Parts: sequence; structure tokens; C-alpha cells
Amino acid sequence: MTLVDTSRSEEMLAHRQALLPRGVTGAGRWEDPYPIVFTRARGQFIEDVDGTEYLDYHGGYGTALLGYSHPGVDGAVARAMADGQTFVGCAQVHEAILAERLVDLLPEADRIAFCGGGGSDPLYHAVRVARAATGRRKIVKVEGGYQGWHSDFGASTVPPAADISPTHTPPTVPNSTGVLPEVTEAILAVTANDIASLEERFAAEGDEIAAVFVEPALYSSGVIPVDHDYLRAARDLCDRHGAVLVFDEIICGFRSRIGGAAVPSGVVPDLAAYGKAIANGHVFALLAGKAELMDLLAPNGGVFFSGTFNGGPIGVAAATAVLDELESTDAMARAVRACERLAVGINAAICARGLNAVVQHHGSAWNLYFHTRKVRDVRDLAASLAHDTEALNLAFRHHLRDQAIFMQRRVGTLRGFVSAAHTDADIDRTIDVVEAFLDQHEETLKA
Ligand SMILES: Cc1ncc(COP(=O)(O)O)c(C=O)c1O
Repeated sequence: MTLVDTSRSEEMLAHRQALLPRGVTGAGRWEDPYPIVFTRARGQFIEDVDGTEYLDYHGGYGTALLGYSHPGVDGAVARAMADGQTFVGCAQVHEAILAERLVDLLPEADRIAFCGGGGSDPLYHAVRVARAATGRRKIVKVEGGYQGWHSDFGASTVPPAADISPTHTPPTVPNSTGVLPEVTEAILAVTANDIASLEERFAAEGDEIAAVFVEPALYSSGVIPVDHDYLRAARDLCDRHGAVLVFDEIICGFRSRIGGAAVPSGVVPDLAAYGKAIANGHVFALLAGKAELMDLLAPNGGVFFSGTFNGGPIGVAAATAVLDELESTDAMARAVRACERLAVGINAAICARGLNAVVQHHGSAWNLYFHTRKVRDVRDLAASLAHDTEALNLAFRHHLRDQAIFMQRRVGTLRGFVSAAHTDADIDRTIDVVEAFLDQHEETLKA
């Protein structure tokens, strides 16, 4: 039985498709047979054009840690606007105050470079800083990791469909047309959680590697925890070969603790990029790092650094309010606990039925994988997809949607974000809905 009517979203499709690429604004926003069109979101709920309030696990791609339209954060933004703070493009009072707090919180941070757009911005600056610092071309990235939409990282975001056997040296597979081959050739892919992969890359091309980019928890491929030893090995190899270690904390940072997801490992990168949850739905991102590298940015150094909206007061007000909230309440702990409750509940249901599936979770993010019991790298994920799993993933999202629970489509994964607004009752309802799906698909998942 379906609780929802999505007919207005369906009716809007033709009009939207005439105006927007396939009717959406970014590849990930498409869903078969048509995307649900939303109007507003509050707390743990998001409402569509038909008036249905969905319990939400999309979390604005991980931004809505405190819940949507958080009164503390949006109130701070509204006050900044009322105070005439919608000017951009000049030095402003609050950026240095926020930078001082971040320098205290983030282990790698001597300096902060605020960026004006999404998380892709600081990562792009990080590539240039690393190349300028080392005089080298190549960058190492983890296969299945996503470091933003631009060309310097436009490869190996998913494994090659043709060959998914284990390897220490995955091929560089472009994820876009229109990228210059010499840009793609400068990208070296490594396997997640595989120290030998890092070692082989450095043994072969160590004197050409400018930087290694690692997500300290690999949310780009669902939720794959990254071993602390892997982070340590990356640190050690970068030190020995004179390369820059960059942590991409855009999606995992501030989802498990204040500061980076890497903090428990004790590994300190040279540079780290943050975004998303740090401003709870407002546009904001930053690069943090050691003084000798950050001082290469203009106007100190020769690495061009600009952006109309960099350090704009509205984004700074939002991030400041998020830090206030995280430091003065148990919001982070609540989100993490709720996520744990969900993962434990679904895994118990999987175990009770003896199914081949698993929820992996980290911080306040979770991913349900079908046809596998463990995913350590993107090749494990690819192997799990060789069972018509994408059709099952789509059926799962539709099943949830019919019960007014929303997850955004992602290629190959079912990743969800829990916010501090999710209650135990929300989580328990979700577990019940998931159990009904597992019952329906028990035969398929026993295989
Ligand atoms: C790990 C990671 N890095 C970078 C980015 C790029 O951020 P944005 O899409 O805000 O530019 C994303 C976006 O999902 C991400 O997940």
C-alpha cells in the first residue's frame, strides 16, 4: 500500500525537461521514472509538490547535520541579512573570528582559506597549492573517491565495469567527456584500505607525485570506513617522498565529530577541505592547512586565489552558528546515536533472515549494501552490483518512497544521512519499513 501520491511531480516532468538537462540540475538528482519535486524542508522532513512530508535520509547530500532549516543557523543568517551583511568581495569582520575558532579546532590548520562555492572549490585550490609547492604534476586519488566535479579529479570515481578484480594499481578511468587527456593522465588511482597500493604508486612514480587525496571515511562509495593504518601509511609515504597529504573532509568532516573524521587516527594532513555539514545547508567551504603551504595562495604567493563569494558574511554566519550549536549542545552525539540505532536495527533484521546484505555506518552516515557482507573498497562494491543489484536498489528507494521515506538516487549505493532531528520513533519506523522490504526480497537476498 502506498501512502504517497506523486502525480504533480510526474506532471511537471515534461515542462522541466524542456528547460533543464533531463529536468534536473545535476546528474545525481535524476530518479527513475521521474524525480520527486520538493518545496521545503524542516527538521528531518522534506515536503514535495503533492504535499507529502517525507522522513528524509538524503540530508541535502550530507549538509543537513542539524536538520533542515535549523532555527539557530537560519536565525543567524536572517540576522546577518537584516544587519546588511549581504555584501561580498571585501574583507569583513566575522571571517577572521571564525578562522580563529577553526584554527583551534582543526589539527592541520595554521591558516584558513574560505571559498565561495561548494566543496569542489577548496579541493581545486589544494591541487594547485600542492603542484606549486612540489613542482610536480601527478596526483593520487582513491578509486571510488569523489573530489569534486572538475577535471583534475575527473577519473576513477567508480571502478571500470569490465574488470573489477583486485588490483593495487587501478586504471585511471575518466568520468566525463570534454576533459583534456593530459589532465586525466596526471591522475593515479589507488585502492582504498590497501597500503600496498599506495606503496606501489610511490615506488613507481614517487618523484612525480605532488599530492595524495584521501577521504578519511569514504562516503563517496556509500560508507566505507578507512583504516587508520592506511591513513598513517599515506602520511608516511608523503613524508618520505616529499608529497603533500590532503584529506577531503567535505562530506565526512563534521558528520562524526567536531573537526575532521581523521581526528581519531591521529594523522594530521598538510591540507584539508571542509564543506557541507559545517554550514548546515548554506553555501560554504574552506581549505585549512599548514602555513608554509597556505602562504603559497595569493596575494602572499603565486597560486591564484579568488572568488566573488569567498568568505561572504552569510556563509560565515551560518558556519559560525553551526559551530555554536555543536559546541553547546549534544546535537552531533544525537545524530551519531540515531544512525547507530538504524544500522544496528537493520543489520539485526538482515541477520535474523540470514540475508546477504549489510549496513555499514560511520558517524551519522549509513549505507545499505545488497549482495555482500562487507565493502572495503569500490571493487567489493562493484562485485556486489553484479546481481541486478541496481534494480533492487531502485525497488528499495521506491518502497521507502511509497511509505513517505526519501533517499536520493546514487549510482550503485544506498547511502543515507541521519540528522540530529531524527527521533527514535523515526528510526524505528524506518527499520519496520526496511524489514517489510527484506521480507519481500528474501529469496533474492538469500542467494
Ligand atoms: C568527498 C567529496 N568531496 C568533494 C565534493 C564536492 O563538493 P561540491 O559538490 O559541494 O562541490 C563532494 C560532493 O559530494 C564530496 O562528497
